[in-house]
Amino acid sequence: MNSQRHFLITGGAGFLGSYLVGELLRRGFKVTVLDCLLFGGESLLSFLSNPDFHFVKTDVWEPRALKASVRSDWPPPDGIVHLAALAGFPACQAVGKQVAWRYNVEATEHLFEQAVALKIPRFIYISTYSNYGLGESGEGVTEETPLNPQSLYAETKVASEKVLENTGDSSIASVIFRLTSVYGLSPRPRFDLIVNQFVWEAFRNHELLIYQRGYSRSFIHIQDAVAGIIMGLEAPEDTVQGEIFNLGAETGNLTKDQVVELILKRLPETTIYYKDLTFGGDMGDITISIEKIKDKLGFKSQKTVDDGIRELLDAIQLGLVKDPADSRYRNARFIVQ
Ligand SMILES: NC(=O)c1ccc[n+]([C@@H]2O[C@H](COP(=O)([O-])OP(=O)(O)OC[C@H]3O[C@@H](n4cnc5c(N)ncnc54)[C@H](O)[C@@H]3O)[C@@H](O)[C@H]2O)c1
Repeated sequence: MNSQRHFLITGGAGFLGSYLVGELLRRGFKVTVLDCLLFGGESLLSFLSNPDFHFVKTDVWEPRALKASVRSDWPPPDGIVHLAALAGFPACQAVGKQVAWRYNVEATEHLFEQAVALKIPRFIYISTYSNYGLGESGEGVTEETPLNPQSLYAETKVASEKVLENTGDSSIASVIFRLTSVYGLSPRPRFDLIVNQFVWEAFRNHELLIYQRGYSRSFIHIQDAVAGIIMGLEAPEDTVQGEIFNLGAETGNLTKDQVVELILKRLPETTIYYKDLTFGGDMGDITISIEKIKDKLGFKSQKTVDDGIRELLDAIQLGLVKDPADSRYRNARFIVQ
């Protein structure tokens, strides 16, 4: 009897997914990835020779995508992490409501229906703190805070959360993580995420243009984000069933000015320009409470934004990412603030 656990990751070729896959394989799990490779599949190349890795190129919107991917010679998945989506408000804005809904809401509906039918015991949905939209100034936003989406992207993520909440089926433990802004490097780097983009622009242009300078955002290193998701896979069912967790870092609530200060420490020759313009953004000023995930799952973040800035600068200065400006490192050609 093979007791090796098996997890299925949608969007496993993406920024978060490819890091998560590497970590799950390193821990000795079997991993199936479903991805349609919107940004290519180089991020998965190093896993192909691993006998515990299985890749299926598919659009998870297809109503039978999950059922068709199940391997008869492997144990059924012990859990799914659903990451596949058009990630970020610029990408959703670029394609419009109908397409964004197809990728971000209908795909979740189809996948969740199949997961229930296949009796997969756990379904983790990766949502976003963008769903809160506008925080009460100074107050840490908790999971109980009413949602107030300010973008099409956040609207799709709120609607997707409802898919899981409305099921009423207790045979599957559905868990939602509202993830803060992730920074750092992965096999599929992204340079359209706020910290990553700031570091790259400051390095390349020796200047940075900052909108809404005093606004707080909440950040988490990719290593901590992935550790939190794995805790969600491993936690006892009654700890996570039907639960929503903010997934952020203890040191992660920073204003844009504070992020800029950290960048200036390493790139002091950068000139900073400010504009007060608010332009169709995702969120207002927001800080996040992570008390629940600390209390219930014992989550503790390890990395700081300063660590991430150092890693990003190393990668760029050493030429490990040849051209961070390349469009394959961003989900839509759009300046993200
Ligand atoms: N990166 C962040 O800061 C952040 C923050 C909060 C939430 N999230 C959420 O985490 C998830 C992953 O984000 P990411 O930064 O890794 O994005 P990403 O764009 O790097 O990865 C998404 C992956 O999903 C795949 N995909 C998209 N639609 C698909 C479909 N219909 N069928 C199959 N594959 C599909 C893409 O090919 C890509 O490989 C998203 O759901 C996003 O909303 C990300």
